[in-house]
Amino acid sequence: MNKKTIWITGGSTGIGKALAIKFASNGWNVAISARRENLLQEISDNNANIFSYPLDVTNKSQCKEVFNKIKSKFESVDICFFSTGTWNPKKEKDIDVEQIEDVFKVNFFGTLNSIKAVEEYFKNKQDGIITIVSSIAGYRGLPNSTGYGPSKSALNNLAESLYFDFKRSNVRVCLVSPGFIKTPMTDKNDFKMPFLKTTEYAANKIYDGLINKNNFEIHFPKSLTLILKLFSFLPSKLYFGLIGKMTKYQKKN
Ligand SMILES: NC(=O)c1ccc[n+]([C@@H]2O[C@H](COP(=O)([O-])OP(=O)(O)OC[C@H]3O[C@@H](n4cnc5c(N)ncnc54)[C@H](OP(=O)(O)O)[C@@H]3O)[C@@H](O)[C@H]2O)c1
Repeated sequence: MNKKTIWITGGSTGIGKALAIKFASNGWNVAISARRENLLQEISDNNANIFSYPLDVTNKSQCKEVFNKIKSKFESVDICFFSTGTWNPKKEKDIDVEQIEDVFKVNFFGTLNSIKAVEEYFKNKQDGIITIVSSIAGYRGLPNSTGYGPSKSALNNLAESLYFDFKRSNVRVCLVSPGFIKTPMTDKNDFKMPFLKTTEYAANKIYDGLINKNNFEIHFPKSLTLILKLFSFLPSKLYFGLIGKMTKYQKKN
């Protein structure tokens, strides 16, 4: 039987890297993309099933070129996992329009460029999974998140919209909403992160959700995400009060 293939963007570090190793150890071909070629090469050198495809997702035509290369190397591409993201907590406290534009360029438009690059392929194939990595920060507004939260909220809406569109072609659109996972991205946070988990934990949850289940959203850890989902139904006054109190208590020192 031919090996299955997954394309992972954001594969140089963090969740994307851990997921690449998880799929590779389960016998999949894994194509990984990100900007830092040296990191991709190192991962690939250490794993015969992982192949490096450097890419800056803000470059539309490069997204198409890279996907064409992946398509021609492997028999078929079965899952795409679009995980590129950026977060700079120091700059999220203000309305810094240029900064917010940059965050949207990577988190929202970078993901959109990646989806656009695979759209025709998956619609013709009439099979497969397109995965969009969002965040619990996209559920409702959080303090000190003027760019990241709104970019993830936009991805949530996009994923729901695309769900209907791709379903007509028998393609599953899947949304991933991680809680706090220890990665280079969250190492920048100066607050205590509740229910912080490892990248291996995240990779196991995502692998299980993609391969063994068929839900639209994969969210974890449930101890955090279910509380936040409940909060999303609250009237604004109650929501602002609860989140205000909780985030104040969690500041370091
Ligand atoms: N960690 C968490 O607690 C958490 C929680 C919720 C959601 N998430 C989401 O999970 C995803 C992965 O985050 P992570 O925590 O694993 O962080 P990370 O380790 O910093 O990974 C981010 C990845 O995105 C890549 N990337 C950034 N800009 C790019 C660009 N322009 N083109 C191509 N690749 C680019 C980075 O590689 P290069 O720098 O080499 O390009 C890296 O591989 C993100 O979408 C993040 O928002 C994370």
